[in-house]
Order: sequence, then C-alpha cells, then structure tokens
Amino acid sequence: MLAAAGLDVRVNSRPTAVEPDRLARQAACHDAVICLATDRIDGAVIDAARARCRIFANCAVGYDNIDVGAARRAGIVVTHTPDVLTETTADLTWALILAAARRLGQAERVVRAGAWRGWSMLDFLGTDVGGGTIGVVGAGRIGTAVLRRARGFSMRMLYTSRRDAEAADALGARRVPLNDLLANSDVVTLHVPLGESTRHMIDAGALQRMKNSAILVNTARGAVIDEAALIAALREGRIAAAGLDVYESEPRVAPELLRMENVVLLPHIGSATTATRQAMANCAARNVIAVLRGQPPLTPIDEQ
Ligand code: DGY
Repeated sequence: MLAAAGLDVRVNSRPTAVEPDRLARQAACHDAVICLATDRIDGAVIDAARARCRIFANCAVGYDNIDVGAARRAGIVVTHTPDVLTETTADLTWALILAAARRLGQAERVVRAGAWRGWSMLDFLGTDVGGGTIGVVGAGRIGTAVLRRARGFSMRMLYTSRRDAEAADALGARRVPLNDLLANSDVVTLHVPLGESTRHMIDAGALQRMKNSAILVNTARGAVIDEAALIAALREGRIAAAGLDVYESEPRVAPELLRMENVVLLPHIGSATTATRQAMANCAARNVIAVLRGQPPLTPIDEQ
C-alpha cells in the first residue's frame, strides 16, 4: 500500500524491537515511522525526529510506548489502530477466561507429559463461568466487546469507566466503583490503557478486595497489575486463578508465574490473527499516506 502510494519504504525485518539509538537515527532521516508497541518512542527519539518526521503511526491500539506529549510539542502526529482489533482481542480475553476457569493449561500439560491416567470424577475440577458475575475494568471498545460475549454466558455484568458507556449500559451492564466491582465479580478482566492513573491499579489492596474464588484476566498492559502483588495473592490463595497475555517487563515472565499451575500464560497475542494484523498494518499505512499528503490522520490519538 505504501509503495503503491509512491513512498519509498525501508523495513526493519528483524523480529525484535529496534534499539533506541538506531530508532532515533532512522526517525531523523524519514518522513514517517510506523512503529510497534515494543518500540519505545521517547523524548530522545522525538528530538532526533522533529526536523523531518511528520508522523509516528503506532501499529497497536495501545500507545504507552510513545511520549505523546513530546510528539505534540514537536508537531509530530501520533496515530494508533483502534477498532480493527477489538473483536479479536475480546475473543482472546474469553479464551483466557475459560482457560483459567477450566484449568486448560494444567490439563493440557498432563496430557502432553503422558501422565493422564484416564477419566476421573475428581480430576481438574474447574469453575463454571456461566451465571456468575463478570467485572470489566474499562468499558471502552474491547471491554464492551467482552461484555457482549458475556451475555452469551448469562452473566451478571459490572463495569468501570471514566466516561459514559452507553454501549455497555445497553447490554445490561451496570457501572460501579472499582472497589465494588472487585468485591462482587467472579471474573475480573482488565481493559484500560496504561497510564499514570492505571499503573498498578490492581495492587495488593485491590487483590485483597477480590473474592477468593475469583479469576483475574489481563489482555491490556502488564503494568496495570502489580505483578509481585499478584504472585503473592495467587500463592496465598487470595484469588483462585489468573489468565495473563501481558506482563510488566515483556518478554520477561516472572519465574514464580511459570511455576504456578493456576495461571494461564500467553505471549501477548491479543490481536494475533492474520486478518487483524493485516488490518492493523493497513490502518497504520493509511494514516501515514494521509498525513504525508497533507490530509488529517484517520485515527489520531485522542489525547492530541
Ligand atoms: C495493542 O494493539 O495495543 C496490542 O497490545 C499490541 O499489538
């Protein structure tokens, strides 16, 4: 798409994030940068880019990797890829909810190890999700899509949201303060962006408020949970299980989590379907083309 629009494209074909120095050097000599959630676009990169670069098009809906304020001051547009990954990420959230509730990871490990002894009345007893209460922290696009799926499980639905969430209300969900949601939900699932107000939003105190039988799921950003507090809560049985797609220091996963049977661990694959990743790439490319043609970006970051 970019080449068809007449742009010269240079691609980083290495699978890992670009090192900060290289990123700064590259940003300085390009008109646009398409970056990933793993690329840190900080003040230094933006300073290097400001003379020439007109847009950082993040190929992700989250943008905690970008210093948006510094970009705005430098006159550089920042865009992201909302909408196109909503349903895919909501699906994966539900995969984690069900996997954690029904102990899929643990059960699969037993089969793969050749250790399954046959059907047993008492093996791998999980929890029924249907009929329980789901608490969605952050009823934005993805949170609302998770709620829509929860209706199929006949769940009572609670949510928190900074803004009015008519779509969530229309589904029959009830807006409550975070502490009420934590105390009353059987499944708590996180769908807030990472920022100063949400970093470690789920800390030891929040975990203490949850039911002992509750499941915590995170497909948002790792640092929304205080990971050390989560490990302690799981170890001490203060919550029953967790399903995690994201971690505080990716790609590092705390060794304690790796050893726990009541945690399902995925490698940040919320949006990972072929169609969705293609749609994300197209969205980022369209933003670049628009901005370089002097048109408004399609999906600018709201904060700008
Ligand atoms: C997103 O879009 O923010 C994902 O977490 C990264 O692909």
